[in-house]
Amino acid sequence: MSNIVEINGLYKSYENGNIKALNGIDLTIKEGEFVSIIGPSGSGKSTLLNMLGALDLPDKGSIKVAGYDLLSNKKLNEFRSQKIGFVFQLHNLIPNLSVVENIEIPMFTSKMSNSEMRSRALELLDIVDLKDKASLKPSKLSGGERQRVAIARSLANNPSIILADEPTGSLDSKTSTKILKQLIDLHKHEHVTLIVVTHDMDVAKLADRTIEVLDGKLVNAGDDSLLEDKINVE
Ligand SMILES: Nc1ncnc2c1ncn2[C@@H]1O[C@H](COP(=O)(O)OP(=O)(O)O)[C@@H](O)[C@H]1O
Ligand SMILES: [Mg+2]
Repeated sequence: MSNIVEINGLYKSYENGNIKALNGIDLTIKEGEFVSIIGPSGSGKSTLLNMLGALDLPDKGSIKVAGYDLLSNKKLNEFRSQKIGFVFQLHNLIPNLSVVENIEIPMFTSKMSNSEMRSRALELLDIVDLKDKASLKPSKLSGGERQRVAIARSLANNPSIILADEPTGSLDSKTSTKILKQLIDLHKHEHVTLIVVTHDMDVAKLADRTIEVLDGKLVNAGDDSLLEDKINVE
């Protein structure tokens, strides 16, 4: 399997360098992997995820995702809309549109016809078990159901990678588990690489590999890649 993520010496600071959010990250992720990212609040998890999705750019280092060199590529909009599916803690659904219309939004940048968009949206709703709610407004759904809609929407354009930032952060643990199960089903069904930031160890454990972030550095990459550093220190 080839690497879908290759990050080397990545740095990112805010407030004129006073806040060092990422402090030299090296990370590779293989195509089709399910990776969880854990670490205390403020450790840089969201910053790292935002770099992966090109929502923000690093100060220094190199970052290649799904064949795009994010620091030299000019087509970052294309990258974001075609390669990445985003799921945030708040679902960000548009209240005036129905559930199925919300899922179609990302498809407007594609070349799909209206009927193709509708059938793809309904297929995704079926996977998250919400086909019967397709015509409702998001306000008629529970918090967990809205998050499942957001998960379905993240897959609209057949992304290579799903980036989920605390997708179950605002939900109770039973709903969280259900949502995670669906995210994992989708990851298997659609062969997507899945990267999930979570503070929930039960969620983190479900991943093939857990990466731990502390003060903008990886303290555990879930593999042997940091072993050499440790040996060098001793
Ligand atoms: N847009 C921003 N402007 C200023 N500081 C930021 C910004 N985004 C993140 N930070 C700071 O960078 C550090 C890492 O934040 P973040 O990546 O959100 O951590 P986490 O997701 O692990 O809680 C924190 O100190 C945070 O306050
Ligand atoms: Mg965060």
